[in-house]
Amino acid sequence: MEFKINPVPPGERRSKPGDETKLGFGRTYSDHMFTMKWTADGGWSDATVGRYGALALEPSALVLHYGQTIFEGLKAYRNPHGSINLFRPRANAARFNRSAARLDLPQLDEQVFMQGIEALLELDHEWIPRSRGTSLYIRPTMIATEPYIGLKSASQVLFFIITGPVGAYYPEGFNPIRITVCEKYSRAGPGGLGSAKTAANYAASLVAEKEAIKAGYTQVLWLDAASRKYVEEVGSMNILFKIAGKVITPPAGETILAGITKDSALQLLKSWNVPVEEYRITIDELLAAHADGTLEEAFGAGTAAVISPVGQLEYKGATYEVADGQTGPLARKVFEALMAIQYGEQPDPFGWIHEVVPAQMAQRAAPVAVAAAKS
Ligand code: PLP
Ligand code: COI
Repeated sequence: MEFKINPVPPGERRSKPGDETKLGFGRTYSDHMFTMKWTADGGWSDATVGRYGALALEPSALVLHYGQTIFEGLKAYRNPHGSINLFRPRANAARFNRSAARLDLPQLDEQVFMQGIEALLELDHEWIPRSRGTSLYIRPTMIATEPYIGLKSASQVLFFIITGPVGAYYPEGFNPIRITVCEKYSRAGPGGLGSAKTAANYAASLVAEKEAIKAGYTQVLWLDAASRKYVEEVGSMNILFKIAGKVITPPAGETILAGITKDSALQLLKSWNVPVEEYRITIDELLAAHADGTLEEAFGAGTAAVISPVGQLEYKGATYEVADGQTGPLARKVFEALMAIQYGEQPDPFGWIHEVVPAQMAQRAAPVAVAAAKS
């Protein structure tokens, strides 16, 4: 597919954040965005990289009323070779299409997903921050733009990608967070949208999250909606437990997002011969493990959250300390190993890294390559 590239003139580009230690998450955006339209009759067209800015959307656009939308989240990192590492972007493209199928949105060619990201990095690679722990967050999104307020699937859709520099997702950084088990609300039910990365799942979690924060917790741990017995996931990440030396995590499925970070953590753990088991663990089993001293660690895994240790768990008014409220050694090991691969500090035996070399970076690297060839 041919892309129209409309770069923002250099004099009109915005200034980048000065202090990378204060980046936080999700409030700063790079200069450009990628957009592409779809109609039921004509398919995809108008692939354009242009200035980041407001979308023109009719107030009757279907997405605003019925939530027909999906998104993805992935990150670009600077590596020591002077180019860029994308972490498992094809897994995001595949999940995007699975979400699209569930929301009755059109499929997107994986190549276009990749090329859209690469075209943005070509223009905006200077927005990738430099400190360890920071990265460029990439948010591909699809929305139903057709102006119509009857309920139906849209015959006009917009795909866009925006990016922005980020640091830690939680205010705690990599320090342990406190999570509370939610019994009052449900996030996703059988046959619902839980396996899709779609706005409704997050909308369903907002009140619960607000109440959790008010009570002094960072996030909510969701139980299954049907019986409120089984542990599912946290609103923005999957959850793993280390019990008696074994890592246990609820399997992705109808109500739990198939997280790419968790999958990567499990692959790492297996490569270290740490026993791993994916099954539907109950909250009672978890608390029994806490009571008999075998609950050794708990940690979340997600693109934004990376690996986030859980220091405290609240359920039915009682609080349970995990790993003495500290970061457990296994969570730290997974975190370090993952980051080392993402930042290109260690080899990637899993084939997770997709390297991107924007033309400007290639030019800068060229003299080094010549010098190396001569020596
Ligand atoms: N679960 C939910 C609800 C999420 O929003 C996320 C974040 O994307 C995850 C799990 C973790 O998924 P991933 O590791 O692919 O980012
Ligand atoms: C991500 O981790 O990429 C997500 O999409 C989670 C979101 C709540 C920031």
